[in-house]
Amino acid sequence: MTGAARGIGAAVAARLAADGNAVAVLDLDEAACADTVEAIREAGGSAVAVGADVTDAESVATAVERVAAQLGAPTILVNNAGILRDNLLFRMSEDDWDAVLTVHLRGAFLMSRAVQAHQVEAGWGRIVNLSSTSALGSRGQANYSAAKAGMQGLTKTLAIELGRFGVTANAIAPGVIETEMTGAVADRLGVTREEFFTEAAKDVPVGRVGTPADIANAASFFCSEAAGYVSGQVLYVAGGPRA
Ligand SMILES: NC(=O)c1ccc[n+]([C@@H]2O[C@H](COP(=O)([O-])OP(=O)(O)OC[C@H]3O[C@@H](n4cnc5c(N)ncnc54)[C@H](O)[C@@H]3O)[C@@H](O)[C@H]2O)c1
Repeated sequence: MTGAARGIGAAVAARLAADGNAVAVLDLDEAACADTVEAIREAGGSAVAVGADVTDAESVATAVERVAAQLGAPTILVNNAGILRDNLLFRMSEDDWDAVLTVHLRGAFLMSRAVQAHQVEAGWGRIVNLSSTSALGSRGQANYSAAKAGMQGLTKTLAIELGRFGVTANAIAPGVIETEMTGAVADRLGVTREEFFTEAAKDVPVGRVGTPADIANAASFFCSEAAGYVSGQVLYVAGGPRA
């Protein structure tokens, strides 16, 4: 479970642990994973903290080996690590572009390539990739929307290549979810987080913004035995067709 120190990743990690899985809580800073790991253990689950940078092939290889040694072969992978570097196109730097594409796409590629070896050997696996409604186009997010559309293409190809080994791959495309990532957008816009989320909720058909638990519910389904005939799909979890 990448990017699991906080936000959506922490909620999905807790849910997959509650579903009976031993969970590797992977994030950039191992110490930052402590709260997520503690919460899972307190609830009776099993989890370990793993510090790794998903953009770095060596770091990914070491992390996956460590998880295999500590928890057993990883057969479920959730590619959730992500960053924002929003800017209108004319102000977007090459670094803004590269950083976002690298974390989301290179990160998911490296993690999937490392974990599929274990999944293929086990003859069973689940991959869940975090896309976004931004994949449909989003002002100020040329980098992020390209990365999140890319996650959908990657998901479909993983589904096609790995299906014969009992591995499914699906994507979740959240709308606005209340996390540190979206809270920081409010800070940058100079409005309170409460104002920001109240305003955002007005555009959502179900009349509220999402919670990390909304995404965890979808991830739980995709990772379940019951979802074995669902692969290569993109599920918008956005309170409507798009947030
Ligand atoms: N919050 C939303 O509204 C929303 C909407 C759509 C999609 N998403 C996607 O869901 C995912 C989680 O979002 P969130 O809101 O919980 O974000 P968040 O910023 O709260 O958490 C992201 C986590 O990813 C980690 N991370 C970043 N770069 C990393 C790297 N190189 N290696 C390992 N870990 C790294 C961060 O340290 C952080 O803990 C992201 O992929 C995001 O794009 C979020």
